[in-house]
Amino acid sequence: MNIVDKFFRRINRLRISVTDLCNLRCVYCRPESGLPLIEHSNILTYEEIVTVVRHAVKLGIKSFRLTGGEPLARRNIEQLLLMLGDINHVEDLAVTTNGIYLKNYVQIMKKTGKYRLNISLDSLNAAKFERITRGGKLGDVLEGIESVLDLGFKNTKINVVAMKGINDDEFEVFARLTMDKSLEVRFIEYMAMNKETMVDQDKFIPMSDIVDMINRDNELIALPPPELGSGAAKTYKIKGARGTLGFVSAVSQPFCGSCNRLRLTSDGKLRACLLSGGEVDLRLILRNNPTEEQLTDAFYRAANLKPSAHAGKGHAVMHQVGG
Ligand code: 5AD
Ligand code: SF4
Repeated sequence: MNIVDKFFRRINRLRISVTDLCNLRCVYCRPESGLPLIEHSNILTYEEIVTVVRHAVKLGIKSFRLTGGEPLARRNIEQLLLMLGDINHVEDLAVTTNGIYLKNYVQIMKKTGKYRLNISLDSLNAAKFERITRGGKLGDVLEGIESVLDLGFKNTKINVVAMKGINDDEFEVFARLTMDKSLEVRFIEYMAMNKETMVDQDKFIPMSDIVDMINRDNELIALPPPELGSGAAKTYKIKGARGTLGFVSAVSQPFCGSCNRLRLTSDGKLRACLLSGGEVDLRLILRNNPTEEQLTDAFYRAANLKPSAHAGKGHAVMHQVGG
């Protein structure tokens, strides 16, 4: 059985926010004062998340992503990592992490053989990194990345949010990391999100400018789009490089028309889209002894809430839906 939405897009990915907590407060994501937290009893348990994933597999969803807040900041997250790694027919388990706690979990993830990692890293300068993340230690992230490379994970990505006047002097250095490292460096267009965070439009750099900046001193070769895992990115390789470059332009070229995912919030709401309001209260269903039919129905209802493209209202709150 497969889920198809009303625009005939096959839904084959689920993004799961496992916590609204984060150990950092990046300037583009969270206010300095932090955020009110969801009450713990309203957060899905690991068993409930596993139930959702098992059911999603039956509906043909084989690709999952764990996000937050910071997924690795949730207590005993190794238990969930192992439980998910054990589910039959789960092919692809990606984790979006800020990398601070990464080195504590790489062995467990490697053991299951199903995980891949997207690691956020906006600066290679320790003082600047600490400013952007409001207190993060660059060394922790670099250690995490080193162990990921040592253990030979496939499809590792480093996410760099491009910000004018903040890290544009480092794009070249980031791009050159791919010369001898087996990873994809992905530049993400900065999105002005909401009133609480840094919303200066003057920090926005369009993707085409970033490509031009890197193209100036490097020969870029365009790559065909990959089959799985990075639908939204345009990818290139610097001639002779081991790794690749990705460019994600959510702002200048929205990719909603080909969006094939659903999202599960940490408090159990199944959402069709980051920007449009519709959601299905899956937690309520999960906590009332659901039948298989009720779970399937919840997924179908969520899929049918998907709009054809950006609703355009633009009040998404990234940290609540998990980036
Ligand atoms: N603009 C662009 N990307 C963002 N992210 C979070 N907030 C923003 C924003 N305002 C993305 C970053 C980060 C991931 C967790 O979410 O890529 O690495
Ligand atoms: Fe935390 Fe990621 Fe947001 Fe930074 S971008 S505050 S690491 S959730």
